[in-house]
Amino acid sequence: MSRTFILAFGIFLTIASSITGLVIIPNWQFQALKPVVKLDGTRYPEVYFGDQARGREIYIDQGCIYCHTQQVRMKGYGADIRRGWGTRRSVPRDYLMDRPHQLGTQRMGPDLASIGARQPSVDWHAIHLYNPQLTSPGSIMPRFEYFFREVRSGEAAPADAIKVPQQSNGVTHIVPTDRGRALIAYLKRLNQSFPLPEANQ
Ligand code: HEC
Repeated sequence: MSRTFILAFGIFLTIASSITGLVIIPNWQFQALKPVVKLDGTRYPEVYFGDQARGREIYIDQGCIYCHTQQVRMKGYGADIRRGWGTRRSVPRDYLMDRPHQLGTQRMGPDLASIGARQPSVDWHAIHLYNPQLTSPGSIMPRFEYFFREVRSGEAAPADAIKVPQQSNGVTHIVPTDRGRALIAYLKRLNQSFPLPEANQ
């Protein structure tokens, strides 16, 4: 056998085995996964609809994924559960409706897989996105103030206005724009606390 043939065959084998192991077998293992039907007839995971779906697009285009993951590691593989980022580890079924998934790789900030369970308050999310320093002093998260209309002292605050805890530049209240509202609806929806049986294995 010529050396060229052995080399070419080696390259072919390396590529073919990686594609089989990393693409074909996982696809075959997970393609049959379906949402589970809960006792009340609803399904987990549910499709994203309305504001949640729009909020997901905004999460993607703002690059939140560069600082936040959405995957809770199992006990023994890090402190994720001890830090309160989830009640169980994340499993493939959690991502059935996520195309593309937002697993992320960098953790400049906390994991957001279950932020909706950990922080259900719309007002908290609004104030935090408007200016992270107000809820989390010292935070390095950038401000996303363009998702809010500012109401200054002297102006009448509309009914859906959210009071900011510390006034600066005379801003007393903020009102989420449609995009701000959608992003918050998406964050509130992120919740992997439903106890999937395979997550205990
Ligand atoms: C430069 C990195 C960075 C970017 C980009 C970023 N964040 Fe953060 N985020 C952080 C850090 C650091 C914290 C922890 C301190 C804090 O609460 O502000 C945080 C905290 C959070 C929290 C609170 C988590 C908790 O457990 O209390 C939420 C929710 C959040 N970020 C959402 C977002 C969203 C939505 C976006 C995109 C619109 C985003 N972040 C973009 C760094 C970032």
